[in-house]
Amino acid sequence: MKHSFSSRPPSPFQWSERYVLGDPGVDDQHRQLLELAGLLHAALLSGRGADVVSAALQALGEYVDIHFRDEEELFVRIGSPDTAAHRAQHTALRQEVAELDRDLEYGFDALPDKLVGWVEHRLVPHMMVDDQRALQSARQRPFGYGGGR
Ligand SMILES: [Fe+2]
Repeated sequence: MKHSFSSRPPSPFQWSERYVLGDPGVDDQHRQLLELAGLLHAALLSGRGADVVSAALQALGEYVDIHFRDEEELFVRIGSPDTAAHRAQHTALRQEVAELDRDLEYGFDALPDKLVGWVEHRLVPHMMVDDQRALQSARQRPFGYGGGR
């Protein structure tokens, strides 16, 4: 039997080698975040109803929480500077995901574009600039962090 998702449109959030920051744990979680955002996008376009969309959004929100918590613990452990500022960025990003949830009350029409905008303009730049900086500044410390293994 064919899987019910086999006919879904390609996700707009494809993983790319240029997203690799060199910490396997962080990279795996970033890959998973894009995957879950892609599933939410597919759910929004599928016309399969609020419960499916809601479950996909909840899965993304829960994974965002897990990922940010793990990242904050890592940055403290490896002595990355500006962890407090990074934490504040995570708080803002979490709130934006919660806003997507509130937007659901008004229907799905605007949500696919909002989701694409959030991933492209908020999540990916956060990964590429802020997470990158947090890892790099820890690596540059004397006897600094050497990777994620
Ligand atoms: Fe981060």
